[in-house]
Amino acid sequence: MEKQRILIACEESQIVCKAFREKGFEAFSCDILECSGGHPEWHIKGDILKQLDKGWDLMIAHPPCTYLSRGGCRWLFQKGKLNKERYKDGLKAKRFFIKLLNSNIPKIVIENPVPHKVFDMPKETQKIQPYEFGHPHQKATLLWIKGLPILKPTKIVKPEYYICSKGWRHSKFCANWDGKKKSKTFISIAIAMAEQWGDYLIKQNKKVRNSAQAKKRGYINAFIK
Ligand SMILES: C[S@@+](CC[C@H](N)C(=O)[O-])C[C@H]1O[C@@H](n2cnc3c(N)ncnc32)[C@H](O)[C@@H]1O
Repeated sequence: MEKQRILIACEESQIVCKAFREKGFEAFSCDILECSGGHPEWHIKGDILKQLDKGWDLMIAHPPCTYLSRGGCRWLFQKGKLNKERYKDGLKAKRFFIKLLNSNIPKIVIENPVPHKVFDMPKETQKIQPYEFGHPHQKATLLWIKGLPILKPTKIVKPEYYICSKGWRHSKFCANWDGKKKSKTFISIAIAMAEQWGDYLIKQNKKVRNSAQAKKRGYINAFIK
């Protein structure tokens, strides 16, 4: 049986790619950056838009969110006025996101933080939190899902916080992590994706093969009669 091919778009850490490899899938990460996950043989360095029509069964994408996210809105509106340059960058990021979402791949998942409403992004399929997957952190992450079931929580834990010098509450992981570290997928979420969506792909593939075999048997029986 041919292995199913999985593309992890905009991923240099290879965290999700490696979780799918563990499950036996032919997974590749793709990013304009070199990979930092230690498996360059599973990494495509280049523009993701040139890889979309290469016969993938599933794509999980982590497109850049800097200009789209609600977290970046303090830069989008300064003293109540729209920062036009920043808005243009946001629209460009939205076009990139939509190209990924509309690509011709049978199963697609796009992951991003909550976008600013000014960009009028498509409605997400579900919202997940790291604390639903065993990490004691709060960071709302949205998933836009096509052709797969929603991701089920695997271990709900209590999120941890700290109070900054201004007296505001922040999720603990914000304290020491830089932007790059914060953008990496939490390992337990990657494992949940590979376990749940990997199993779903395997089961679906089996069903397709069984019904093809049954059809073939039907033709042979009809011919014998
Ligand atoms: C929000 S980060 C996601 C990081 C990811 N979660 C990981 O663990 O590596 C977005 C990534 O998209 C990559 N990127 C931006 N434009 C791209 C393009 N046209 N093709 C491929 N990757 C791109 C960036 O280099 C960056 O690593």
